[in-house]
Amino acid sequence: MVLLLTSERLEISPLVGADIADFAAYRRRPEIARYQSWGVDFSTADADALVAAQPAAGIPEPGEWVQLGLRAAAASDGSRLLIGDVAVGVDSVQPDSYELGVTLATEHQGSGYAAEALTTVIDWLMAERGAHRIVMQGDARNTAVLVLMRRLGLRHEGSVVEGDWFKGEWTTLERFALLRREWALR
Ligand SMILES: CC(C)(COP(=O)(O)OP(=O)(O)OC[C@H]1O[C@@H](n2cnc3c(N)ncnc32)[C@H](O)[C@@H]1OP(=O)(O)O)[C@@H](O)C(=O)NCCC(=O)NCCS
Repeated sequence: MVLLLTSERLEISPLVGADIADFAAYRRRPEIARYQSWGVDFSTADADALVAAQPAAGIPEPGEWVQLGLRAAAASDGSRLLIGDVAVGVDSVQPDSYELGVTLATEHQGSGYAAEALTTVIDWLMAERGAHRIVMQGDARNTAVLVLMRRLGLRHEGSVVEGDWFKGEWTTLERFALLRREWALR
């Protein structure tokens, strides 16, 4: 069985071959790639390789990542549109420890979809996967993701000041975390 999570407005499931063109198209937009590990040259071949490398059922093992597609209702016929993705990584050293990343296509930002998707994925990791700790990080200039992490209740753990040589300059990373007991109290 392939992973399928649902929220009020979204279906969340691993990216598949049919998503590759849309995924590559929003990833290579300059405003999307700006603070991410890929560049504006992200190609459909890159997307193809990423999808081919992920665990088929969408459940990553330690050391693995899965890219979950966020699918919003597109029309009254029930069809769904890929509007972004949440990346879920499993720590290869510490047990029950996860890292998340999130991207929304530009035209779907500002509607609460990222918060809705991350809440759903965090609920799943806590309830179904026994997560103990979840981390996220963002470039210190990436205001949208910093606001999002704080709004979700993640705790700021520190700044890696000019610790990341990234796209030709030293950049600062803001690190956030969430413990199982913190999520239960929110
Ligand atoms: C980071 C990113 C996903 C945040 O997206 P976002 O749309 O700002 O986040 P949300 O989905 O939570 O939406 C919040 C906004 O929607 C608004 N909103 C509208 N309807 C809403 C609803 N029903 N529920 C919550 N918020 C709602 C909020 O007021 C807020 O708007 P504001 O920023 O003007 O105050 C997005 O900027 C992005 O994809 N960036 C490029 C990729 C990237 O850098 N990712 C981070 C790497 S970790």
